[in-house]
Order: sequence, then C-alpha cells, then structure tokens
Amino acid sequence: MGILDAIRRLLPLEDVALVPDAPPGVPRFLFLQVNKRCNLRCLHCSFWHEKDTDRANYLDAAGKQRLMGEFHALNPRGAVVICGGESMLDLEDYFGISKECRSLGLTCVSVINGTRVRNAEMADRLLREGPHEISVSLNSHRPSLHDETRGVRGSFDKAVQALRLLLDARARQAAAGMDAPKTRIYVMGLIFNDNYRELEDFYDFVLNDVGADKLKLNFLQPSFGDTEVDHFFAERHRMEPNELVSAIRRCDARFGLGLTEAWIGNVRMYVESLQGANDLVRGWGADTRTRDHICNTYERNIMVDHYGVARLCFSTEFRGVKLEQSGDLARFWRETDDVREQMRQCNRFCGISHSVRRVSATTTPAAYSLPERSPTPTGVSAGRRILLSLSQGRWTSRLAGN
Ligand SMILES: C[S@@+](CC[C@H](N)C(=O)[O-])C[C@H]1O[C@@H](n2cnc3c(N)ncnc32)[C@H](O)[C@@H]1O
Ligand code: SF4
Repeated sequence: MGILDAIRRLLPLEDVALVPDAPPGVPRFLFLQVNKRCNLRCLHCSFWHEKDTDRANYLDAAGKQRLMGEFHALNPRGAVVICGGESMLDLEDYFGISKECRSLGLTCVSVINGTRVRNAEMADRLLREGPHEISVSLNSHRPSLHDETRGVRGSFDKAVQALRLLLDARARQAAAGMDAPKTRIYVMGLIFNDNYRELEDFYDFVLNDVGADKLKLNFLQPSFGDTEVDHFFAERHRMEPNELVSAIRRCDARFGLGLTEAWIGNVRMYVESLQGANDLVRGWGADTRTRDHICNTYERNIMVDHYGVARLCFSTEFRGVKLEQSGDLARFWRETDDVREQMRQCNRFCGISHSVRRVSATTTPAAYSLPERSPTPTGVSAGRRILLSLSQGRWTSRLAGN
C-alpha cells in the first residue's frame, strides 16, 4: 500500500477533497443552462447582448427533469448548478430545477446578479424552494466600481439588498422555529486590477457589514461570450502577483479563511501567466496559456447548454453531444475519454475558475464539491488536521500535481 493510499484510508472521505488526484469516477456536477439573456450590462461579459428568442429549441422542463434523474442515478450525492445569463429572469425554470434537486436529494447551487430578489417574499421562497447555495455577484464593496463594471447604475444596491433580504429571511425563519434553513449565502467577487489591492476592505464589507457566509474570489478571465476584441480583459487583468498574494494572505490571517497553499499558488501562477502577454485583447482567442495545467473539469463536470448539448467543460473547442434520449447522459460520460485526453493538455485561462479548478480554495470545501461524500458529516477530524498540516508543506503541491 502506497503512502497516499495509507493517508486516504486514515481520513474520512470528506478530507479526500484535498487529495485531488482521485481517479474520475462519477460526475459530481451537472451544470444546466436555462437562458442566455441578462438584465445587466457587465463589461466583462456578453450575455446581455444575447436574446432567448429561439427558446422553442431549448431543452424543455421535461428534458431537464430527465437529465437530473439520470444524473442522480449516476451520483445521488451530486450537485446541480443553475446557469445563465441571469437565470432568475426565468423563474419557472429556476425553481423547477431547484425543487427537483430537493426532491431527488441532489444539492442545488446558483450564482445570481441579485436584481430579482426584491422583497422578503422572494427571499423566503428562495430559502424554502430554491438552491442550497446562492451566491450573489459583487465586483467591489465600492458601489461606484461595481456599477461602472456591471454597466447599470444602482446594480450594487440591488445586489446588496438581495443579500440582506436572504440573510434576514434565514434569520427570521430560524427565529420562528421553522426547520432552520441551511441555505448558504455567499458573495461571488470578481477580482481585477481596480480592486485587488482593496481585498481586505472587500472581505470586511462582505463578512462583517453584510454578514454573508463567504466571499468567493473569482479572478478575471476573458469576457464571457463571443467577444472578438476584449478591451476589458486586456486593460483590467493586470495584478502584481506579490501584492495580490500578500493581500490574500492578510485576509486569510485577519478573517480566518483557511485558504490552501495549493490554491494561492495557482492564483499566483495565473496572474504571472498573464503578465507580459501581448495578445490578451483577443480574449478567448488569445494564444497565451497558463503556465501550469490546473483544471480537472473532465473528471467531475457535465455542462449542458440550453439546447441540451453536453460537454465536459464550458469551452466549445471540445466536442459536445446532444442529449436526446434516455440514457444519453451516462453514455456521454462513459464515451468521452478522447475529450478527457485532449483536456489533460489544456491550459486555457478558465482553469482558474471555481467550476473547473482542481484544488480547493479552502481547507473546508463544501461537502458537495468533494470527490465523495461521507453519509454523515463529521467535524474537524484527526484526518483533516493531518492533511491541514500536510497542506502547509510540499506534500500538498505534489499531491495536487503542481
Ligand atoms: C456569467 S455570470 C451568470 C450569473 C449572474 N448573471 C451573475 O452575474 O452572477 C456567473 C459569474 O461569472 C462571473 N463572470 C462574468 N464574466 C466574467 C469574466 N470575464 N471573468 C470572470 N468571471 C466572470 C460573474 O461575475 C458571475 O459571478
Ligand atoms: S456577469 Fe451575469 S449579470 Fe453580468 S452580464 Fe453576465 S450574466 Fe449578466
């Protein structure tokens, strides 16, 4: 028995997340795109240029339900991620997915811009029937920077109001002795040149002023969508690696974030890879790549677009398969080793994103994000402590293949 197997056997399964080289088994995430339009106008995204006028060709509710059932059969402990555009513009689809997840026992996750959580009724409904984890996107703790980059004045106030409504609803429901809602309420923060030096204030605002459960950092990538000339990425990606890492470490110490060395190393490598590149204005079309391969989407994800086409990542560079009949999801997962082989060589910018990166940002990742979940959650275990101490040293980076 190798040393790695010995460690795995010592640890409860939840800790195995930090041993990211676990072999691909079952898919852990099913991403379901419900729409492509949006009501904001973010400078780093182009969904708002899109329309849903060809909705007649979209995967319908019954099709989504079929896929969730098939996903559940592959992995009853998996997680479904609702994707858009702004998915809350289509509430029937949104709650259709979250309610089906709840009835199947799957975890449901979503990221929203917050504009459609306008009152206590909607917040209550989200906690009762909506996703188990809701992240509201913020581009800054400064209203002016958020509004400027999100393209709509007042969008900061709406996003923060959504967070406060959700947190109030959770507290109210708990106080009323209702089955205490366990919904996690997060902020997804876009990090780019204008805000990385202000990280400490951003965390302070999110954790202490708003009181959200977590701030997840999301580093700027080329603009989402088909943008041939990407001025935003070219002009606003610049972050000085040492300053960024110092700011992250200060926040880690001050707010007890429990960040992993492996993830901090990946962040540094990402921004260093962008430094000096002269083709970033081509966005996703640039030839620049990250120095290291840091993604493992092909071991864990199935992304299904609004037409019902499945892929192992969001990039359309790799082949997709339209899922039409019962059994297609499992067949897709089984019969895509050729794509996995190609993806193992892929060092595109998106490797840094939450959805696809191999390593966890924190030592306490959400249970649903783990390769396997133990049936009964455990507290901080001896195993975790062992691994935490390993994570400080060179072992983790070897285990992570960095
Ligand atoms: C595409 S949006 C869809 C959900 C919702 N409309 C929202 O904005 O939260 C999902 C997440 O991607 C982020 N995002 C958009 N463009 C990005 C880019 N160029 N680089 C990194 N993250 C980006 C958004 O900030 C948001 O947190
Ligand atoms: S990031 Fe979200 S809110 Fe902004 S345009 Fe894209 S889909 Fe809309």
